[in-house]
Amino acid sequence: MPRATLITNIGELVTNDEQAGREGGPLGIIRDAAVLFDDGLVTWVGPAADAPAQTAGVELLDAGGRAVIPGFVDSHTHLVFGGDRAEEFAARMAGDRYEAGGIRSTVAATRAATDDELRARLAGFVAELHAQGTTTFEIKSGYGLSVADEERLVRLAREVTQEVTFLGAHVVPFEFREDPRFDGDQAAAGDAYVDVVIGEMLAACAPHSRWVDAFCERGAFTAEQSRRVLEAGAAAGLGVRVHGNQLGEGEGVHLAVELGAASVDHCTFLSDADVSALASSDTVATLLPGVEFSTRQPYPDARRLIDAGVTVALASDCNPGSSFTSSMPFCIAVAVRDMGMTPAEALWASTAGGALALRRDDVGSIRPGLRADLVELDAPSHLHLAYRPGVPLVRRVWAAGAPVVGRPAAT
Ligand code: NIG
Ligand code: FE
Repeated sequence: MPRATLITNIGELVTNDEQAGREGGPLGIIRDAAVLFDDGLVTWVGPAADAPAQTAGVELLDAGGRAVIPGFVDSHTHLVFGGDRAEEFAARMAGDRYEAGGIRSTVAATRAATDDELRARLAGFVAELHAQGTTTFEIKSGYGLSVADEERLVRLAREVTQEVTFLGAHVVPFEFREDPRFDGDQAAAGDAYVDVVIGEMLAACAPHSRWVDAFCERGAFTAEQSRRVLEAGAAAGLGVRVHGNQLGEGEGVHLAVELGAASVDHCTFLSDADVSALASSDTVATLLPGVEFSTRQPYPDARRLIDAGVTVALASDCNPGSSFTSSMPFCIAVAVRDMGMTPAEALWASTAGGALALRRDDVGSIRPGLRADLVELDAPSHLHLAYRPGVPLVRRVWAAGAPVVGRPAAT
């Protein structure tokens, strides 16, 4: 069990608790702060001058005036896969368009990989996430697309996170698209695949999953097919999330709001009706800056959403096709530079916003009773996350009170 630890001499503590810190609006910033945590949970937060008197057995750490922020909550990744698609990326940078169909080449590589190969890859990604300050992360299936392979992906994902999403409805796999039974009728092939997704596949995957998701987009699933998948998942006890409005306007956002989804992700192409539907719902709009960066699409307009009162989260969407970055600091930098977010909004969206997208109330903020997920930056202020793009600013990380990055120095 992690030891009781007092981090003191924190130049800027971002709590995401407006009651605790009067500066920075929702960031709840406390200057010259200290945090005490024990047994994996935060037990005290406040000005260092008021910190509880030192007691024996409490490890004392000095942040040297640096900033401390909540661990990032990456609410959208696809980290269980084989191979990569670097060539496809290079072709896109030379002018090709991104299309949903590229997913099928990762499906072939994933099916060919053994459990241990996928596990080893996953362990590498978890280390990569921690090194960049991410302490809570969701992982989707979606590169198996057969009952046995989807079951294996959610089972492997569950070994490293409790936030597992069943995405059997990612694309229609080859064996259905090319099945002579459908004679090239892609709608019929999709419907037949959806029958499997909501039947045997859901039954095999639901025990390892917390969420169900569907890619509601041209080239993937229609709104009607997506609805069948999401309703079946909800009936099996899973929470709903949706991939929508990534490649063009569509029905993803409306479907997500109607079904009370925790979040609808991408939201790159939105009508005014989509924005007002989101604003009057509890569905979080999760924006994925790495996707537009890596596909050369226009960025989503975060300003428009925030000004309309929509709750916005940022996530990496780390996957080998549309966004092969696991870095939340990178996403923050892009969101600030190109999506109209302030540095404060981008940090909030990457921590508290991600927690809301996962309907979690134990992470995403630094306050007594919450999980001790903390990141010490090699910087005096959170502003540096966007101000110093590409610079590795994550110095030390604690996940549930345990040091996962950096040496827990004696002072
Ligand atoms: O979120 N949009 C659908 N799925 C992924 C892309 C997966 C891929 O291209 O392999 C996404 O962008
Ligand atoms: Fe995705």
